Amino acid sequence: MTRVLFVSSEVYPLVKTGGLADVSASLPEALCRLGYDVNILLPGYPSAMETAGASGASRKARISIDGYTVNLVETRLPGAAVTLWLVDCPPLFGREGNPYQNDQGEDWPDNAWRFKLFARVGAKIAMDQAGLSWHPEIVHCNDWQSALLPVFLEPYPERPGTVFTIHNLAYQGLFSRKTFEDLGLDESLWRFEKLEFHGRLSFIKGGLVFSDRITTVSPGYAEEIQTPALGYGLDGLLRYRRPQLSGILNGIDTRTWNPEEDPHLDNHYGRDHLKNKRLCQANLQRSLGLGPNGAVLLGFVGRLVEQKGLDWLLTVMPPLLERGCQFAMLGSGERRYEEPLKELSLKWPDRVSLTLGYDEALAHRITAGCDLFLMPSRFEPCGLNQMYSLRYGTIPVVHSVGGLRDTVFDPADTGIDNANGFCFKSPDSASFLAAIERALDCHKNRKAWRRLQENGMAGDYSWKQSALHYGELYQGILAERQDPNLK
Ligand code: ADP
Ligand code: GLC
Repeated sequence: MTRVLFVSSEVYPLVKTGGLADVSASLPEALCRLGYDVNILLPGYPSAMETAGASGASRKARISIDGYTVNLVETRLPGAAVTLWLVDCPPLFGREGNPYQNDQGEDWPDNAWRFKLFARVGAKIAMDQAGLSWHPEIVHCNDWQSALLPVFLEPYPERPGTVFTIHNLAYQGLFSRKTFEDLGLDESLWRFEKLEFHGRLSFIKGGLVFSDRITTVSPGYAEEIQTPALGYGLDGLLRYRRPQLSGILNGIDTRTWNPEEDPHLDNHYGRDHLKNKRLCQANLQRSLGLGPNGAVLLGFVGRLVEQKGLDWLLTVMPPLLERGCQFAMLGSGERRYEEPLKELSLKWPDRVSLTLGYDEALAHRITAGCDLFLMPSRFEPCGLNQMYSLRYGTIPVVHSVGGLRDTVFDPADTGIDNANGFCFKSPDSASFLAAIERALDCHKNRKAWRRLQENGMAGDYSWKQSALHYGELYQGILAERQDPNLK
């Protein structure tokens, strides 16, 4: 039973801003089902402490780091046999709201200190210095918030093996040289082949330089980040580490996202009994004030940020509204996208429903109730929403990048028998609109539409295969650490 410490700054349902949280719950669970002994490490944000408290939590250890007293609080991932440790340190993590930013959308000024401490706690556990009577053979870190952990383990020859997963290379944890000094990091780390990045401290480089293996969340994105266009200046380093870099496609939690028994839906349906999907649509339209029925309903759920292609979406909406399409939109993010969306919803009250904020139940109802699900992302490391919509018989229209390219197949490329959605390749709003128009044409052909829905719903989006891949990766590292000739 290989012991794995899974380190993440978000875990659903304790704290979530995006897909990282979903993955950090369902991947450890899938690994456990394969026989791995996985424990998760998460900062003790108030929402996480509360959820943990409600399902039973106890203090397991107390350690002192960087002048802070840290309690390690043990709980279980709700509904799963996975142990979760919360880094309870109120001066650094005891803040309501977003884990990374204040109410004004500004980063917390002490983020570098917060996530350095988080990594140091992980390193203590990894080296069996936290008094937990458990230590891992593999430490699996995720995104920049845990990326210093492999740096702290590097000096120890007997350290566990390390994996670093990139969920989004656009977020790197960049700080000033002064912060580097104030954090007390060893001066030898201030080199371009270590943590220095164009005169700044880069947390993510810690994971990219010092880990035994690097993964990202789709094979497509693994290729893209090695190019200047999507490498954010790190493509050279990633090409250098190519032998240790791989892309493993995310799965989804197929119990939470299951149209046959989704508790957020009043009506349930499946691949061979799709009739009730219509009722889901009618309920959604009624509850969102969209009407009259019969229009094609297009959905969007996601963070309102540049990555998600909101500018292209805002450009294609007016002509589609003129044609009678309806939109169900849910998201929160930057004001530059919220404002024009609000204007559209005021101008077209019975055709555009806009919900600003985070609403898990509505996300499920939009996924079930729409005809088309739109994901014009400029880049997308994996994307979970297209897999949710495929499973719910809702046809995705996506930009052919990253994980979207790996999961959505267009009839123009594969023929209708192997297709499950519509893709556009050229990065502009005109090709996005053209893909939606092809989808609207197909929607008129009941048989072809049904075929796409069935193909999508027949797909295997579970974690099983991907968890097996992670398992192989872990075993490869362990073998290599035992016999360095294997490197
Ligand atoms: P990313 O991690 O880049 O935001 P993903 O597609 O991987 O994109 O995951 C996003 C996750 O967050 C999905 O589970 C999606 O349903 C959820 N989500 C995003 N915004 C909202 C929102 N406003 N309300 C409810 N769920 C949301
Ligand atoms: C990131 C990416 C998203 C991916 C998620 C989970 O937030 O933006 O594409 O699905 O991480 O890996």
